[in-house]
Amino acid sequence: MAKAKVFVTRVIPEAGLAKVVDQCNAEIWPDPQPPPRDVLMEKIAGCEGLLSTLNDPVDEELMERAPMLRVISNFAVGFNNIDVAVATARGLPVTNTPGVLTETTADLAWTLLMAVARNIVPADQYMRGRRFRLWGPSLFVGADISRGGDGQPKTLGIVGFGRIGQAVYRRSRGFEMRVLAYDPPLQDLITKTEGIEYAEMDRLLEESDFVTIHTVLDDSTRHLFNAETFERMKSTAYLVNTARGPIVDEKALVAALRNKKIAGAALDVFEDEPEMAAGMAELDNVVVVPHIASASRDTRNRMATMCAENAVALLNREKAPNCVNPEVYDTEAYRRRIAG
Ligand code: DGY
Repeated sequence: MAKAKVFVTRVIPEAGLAKVVDQCNAEIWPDPQPPPRDVLMEKIAGCEGLLSTLNDPVDEELMERAPMLRVISNFAVGFNNIDVAVATARGLPVTNTPGVLTETTADLAWTLLMAVARNIVPADQYMRGRRFRLWGPSLFVGADISRGGDGQPKTLGIVGFGRIGQAVYRRSRGFEMRVLAYDPPLQDLITKTEGIEYAEMDRLLEESDFVTIHTVLDDSTRHLFNAETFERMKSTAYLVNTARGPIVDEKALVAALRNKKIAGAALDVFEDEPEMAAGMAELDNVVVVPHIASASRDTRNRMATMCAENAVALLNREKAPNCVNPEVYDTEAYRRRIAG
């Protein structure tokens, strides 16, 4: 039997790529940058499988071009680059890579939180610039993470208490912090979890010394953080975002940082990647890294394996281990696709 034709939009780690190459008739886009839209439109025609990344917008127009497509396997846990409702209506399963990047992402959230609170980036630049002369009482003085000068625990506010939010919370136990979390659908879980309190958004913003974002991006969370929310935060508070850029109104964030409405921010994700809002790069109270929360060798290998396994299962007309729209399997459109 002929192998299924698959387009892979980036060179993913060998752990998964080898499986796809072995089991499919795979074309791999070799550039470090994702394929331009017109190339993707051309490549997808005639494909039975697509291995995409969060840089590839998979919308109705693209799906329309691919009547033989049987799987969209996203190399990410997030899938906001894909119009899942349209995929479901067209009988197309969409898969992702949940779980394997939880701990790695929580590690980066903490790395960023500590880096911005303790001025790690400017201090490193200072050393490299050979400007260090002598220890000084006010040299790079930052904020405490565990307890304040009054001996009281600092407050961590977690927005989004899914897998990654929970992993961030587990780490906070070591710092003996007070923890608030906001996530309406998970209110029961938060209430039942030891050492954490459910808080509505306004209270969380008003009481937290550190606010860390772990919610999905959808219409209800787009610009959840905006000029008004920054007004509510403490002027000594820090914001960390390792979720999705558009959850934060980046222009409003630059203004809040510039006007010292909040003390600092640490960002792994941006509204319009790879760009940053004007003025961000000039601020000294912000740490910015290029969307690397899941970027550990082991995690990326596991994501690649998972992504390949999801694709191969569906191409073999089996259910995928990680389908984000499992209701698709009951649709007539899906049955037609796999029969075709
Ligand atoms: C994801 O998986 O959604 C991350 O943003 C990239 O690894």
